[in-house]
Amino acid sequence: MMKSVPHGGKLVNRINLALSHDLSLNDVELDDLELSDLELIANGGYSPLEGFMGKADYDSVVQTMRLSSGLPWSIPITLQVDEQKALELKRGETVNLVYNGTVYGLMEIEDIYCPDKMLEAELVYQTTDMAHPGVNKLFQRPEFYLGGPITLIKRPEKSKFATFYLEPIETRAKFEELGWETVVGFQTRNPVHRAHEYIQKTALENVDGLFLNPLVGETKADDVPSDIRMKSYQVLLEHYYPNDRVFLSVFPAAMRYAGPREAIFHAIVRKNFGCTHFIVGRDHAGVGHYYGTYDAQKIFSSFEKEELGITPLFFEHSFYCRKCENMASEKTCPHGLEDRVILSGTKVRRLLKNGEQPPKEFSRPEVVAILIQGMQEVYTKS
Ligand code: ADX
Repeated sequence: MMKSVPHGGKLVNRINLALSHDLSLNDVELDDLELSDLELIANGGYSPLEGFMGKADYDSVVQTMRLSSGLPWSIPITLQVDEQKALELKRGETVNLVYNGTVYGLMEIEDIYCPDKMLEAELVYQTTDMAHPGVNKLFQRPEFYLGGPITLIKRPEKSKFATFYLEPIETRAKFEELGWETVVGFQTRNPVHRAHEYIQKTALENVDGLFLNPLVGETKADDVPSDIRMKSYQVLLEHYYPNDRVFLSVFPAAMRYAGPREAIFHAIVRKNFGCTHFIVGRDHAGVGHYYGTYDAQKIFSSFEKEELGITPLFFEHSFYCRKCENMASEKTCPHGLEDRVILSGTKVRRLLKNGEQPPKEFSRPEVVAILIQGMQEVYTKS
């Protein structure tokens, strides 16, 4: 029996809702990204992390893609404050972690340090170009990092996605209840189009269940908003998927757009949610032209299979071929570009904005209807 073991051996739990905040403690303000990281550290999504990274782990992750313990980890998970705040705080002190005036967590400060962000950009994002949304965000955030263990004392609001908001302990129980021994995780920040559907279903031919786990944390402004996407996933599953073989729940993290490094991170985190397999297609978590089409697949060879503990399933660029009359990829289709239906995200957004239908070979009509309605509301508001 193939079971997924959490990264580092056990699922971290740093939730204690019985604790209350202490008005005498210093406050540290979180942004959206940090609030979602706090939650995912606390509920074990980021096992084995028990807090925001101190300097030793941070340096090791940036430079070697491993925690200082040697365990693979590819993305820094950091809490950032400005210089004035950093000067106010001391190692050993406990602070309130505050978002929009509410205290969600406590943190014991073990480390206060000033990172080399240029190096972080170069090694994690492979570019220092400010036009890269992840690099831009990195430099927008304050200069100093705080490291140390956290405790979540209040769960962030889940009502937006209600029943689709499960913690790793719950998804693991769900997969067990469904009798799934092998589960393939699918990360997405987009509406599911036919190429996504094709690679998901191809994977599903070989495993017990598909865990559709869309990222709903912070994304760049021109990505389709998560509430519209959630509606589109539900209608797609209802019409085109066997409901006993697919489970939908949200991934609250923010997108980093770090391409290859983020693919490793996405896989490890989905292992913590109970997946045994993880889909990596073309330009996973990429943006613009910063990464090669298959770099996010190649990076998996930097690790031994056992140390990641989740099996990546790689897929070539997929499309609809009019001659094959089917979804296909470079690997399975002998025909030329002129026979293939390939739309860019930008082109799809332009069509939706104008109320036009992307072709049914690209996206299911039920999904298109939801997207046209949703996106037109967004455009009329903005
Ligand atoms: S991502 O930033 O979350 O990776 P997206 O939602 O587009 O973006 O992709 C989800 C997954 O599907 C990723 O593994 C990506 O590599 C894969 N993928 C997206 N489009 C295609 C395609 N046309 N062919 C093959 N794989 C694809």
